[in-house]
Amino acid sequence: MTKKTTEIDVGTFRTADWPIESMILKRWSPRAMSGESITDTELMTMLEAARWAPSSYNSQPWRFLYARRGTTHWDTFFNLLGEGNKAWCKHAAVLFVIVTRNFLDAIKQPAVAHMFDAGAAWGNLALQGTKMGLVVHGMQGFDYARAKSALGVPDDFNVCAMVAVGRPGTIEQIPEGAREREKPNSRNPIAAWAFEGRFRAG
Ligand SMILES: Cc1cc2nc3c(=O)[nH]c(=O)nc-3n(C[C@H](O)[C@H](O)[C@H](O)COP(=O)(O)O)c2cc1C
Repeated sequence: MTKKTTEIDVGTFRTADWPIESMILKRWSPRAMSGESITDTELMTMLEAARWAPSSYNSQPWRFLYARRGTTHWDTFFNLLGEGNKAWCKHAAVLFVIVTRNFLDAIKQPAVAHMFDAGAAWGNLALQGTKMGLVVHGMQGFDYARAKSALGVPDDFNVCAMVAVGRPGTIEQIPEGAREREKPNSRNPIAAWAFEGRFRAG
């Protein structure tokens, strides 16, 4: 039987230059999902992880809108996706649209770090989902303007990204064109993006 793509040995593709928690290396973004649903407990556990993210003034500006496959909301969320993402997201169990508030009540001013805060929340959700053996995959390949109108997102919120979550699948469950990249990728070295002192052009 073909292995699930989450069973790929991440160590073959990724090595950390410094000793970090193994979970951080193990999180990657597979596309192969089985089409099975996830439980309410799994869904809530991932949201709970997102809940505990840090945020500016503890404002928690993120909102996670979601649709489970097979519910009345599914088509609305799924139809926001670009064709490339639709091809593999059809096997997802849940689709999220993450939005974040761009005004900070605590100081009555536009929020400057709201996307940063929502990013931390999604990062928690991704790590928690990975720990639970689920596929968690962020996406910008969707119609942002349509997401805003179709989901009734007010003007003081920005649409950040979509996220697909599902049970792991096998390589046969994704389009042929996506199979070659169905493996963990690597990263630039720290020296390329961390500078002591002033900014340096890379
Ligand atoms: C905000 C965001 C948007 C992304 N958009 C897409 C997308 O539209 N389609 C896709 O297949 N992957 C998408 N990805 C996945 C990235 O390509 C992937 O996270 C990146 O290559 C790093 O690989 P890894 O997550 O496996 O470590 C996105 C990831 C993030 C965080």
